[in-house]
Amino acid sequence: MNSRNTIRLQKIISQAGVASRRAAEKLIEEGRVTVNGETVREMGTKADPTRDDIRVDGRRIKSAERSRYILLNKPAGYVTTRSDPQRRRTVIDLLHGVKEYVYPVGRLDYDTQGILLLTNDGDLAAKLTHPRHEVDRTYEAYVSGMPDDEAIERLRRGIPLDGRRTRPADVVLVNKGRRVGAGVLIITIREGRNRQVRRMLEAVGHPVQSLRRIRFGPLSDSGLRPGEWRDLSEVEVEKLKKWKSGKVSIEVERGHRRVRGDR
Ligand code: URA
Repeated sequence: MNSRNTIRLQKIISQAGVASRRAAEKLIEEGRVTVNGETVREMGTKADPTRDDIRVDGRRIKSAERSRYILLNKPAGYVTTRSDPQRRRTVIDLLHGVKEYVYPVGRLDYDTQGILLLTNDGDLAAKLTHPRHEVDRTYEAYVSGMPDDEAIERLRRGIPLDGRRTRPADVVLVNKGRRVGAGVLIITIREGRNRQVRRMLEAVGHPVQSLRRIRFGPLSDSGLRPGEWRDLSEVEVEKLKKWKSGKVSIEVERGHRRVRGDR
């Protein structure tokens, strides 16, 4: 650890694509980083990536791992994490053949289905989940009962959760006027608070029966069956890097929904 080519550990970890600088600092604090077999918790510790054995969760990091961007259609019944202390199935179990250390960008609940981005590009992951410019996400929610106009308006304006109102959301009731018992909503939110959509709908008296994410920024779920994944194209990666949240327009045509960014 005393060679002259030493660099701060958090920088080595982020350059290797394992996590953003901020997330790397957290890994260090949590005692998940070792250098030559010793756990390092002291922030600012330096190491030589060409000579030292640097590991995160026991896995040796390689410098300059190729960046990988994966879009998974997560089925219900999987946890969004790399490893689960309760030994439930994780989204990583679905990524057969992926050798890079990719991790999920944000989270979908165990019971939620839909598209999830996984990457080893720590800087992009940090950007997409940064509270100031979080990417917009669209969900299709089947709920108990049929929400009326007042409930929809409350969802649009924002719902106080944990003492803080949710940001304005785009909400469309797809099956308005039908006499079936369950409402189907397309809802776009611009932050990623814990169980946010479920808690918003619970608050207006229409608990979620099933929830599916159908869009994440410029990415949508077309073509992927639950459990399937694919690499993003270069064009999609570029779009994601440049993405700015905006108003989403939602068209409902003859019972089919079409959702697209309005820009
Ligand atoms: N909101 C939720 O309630 N759950 C999810 O999985 C995602 C958003």
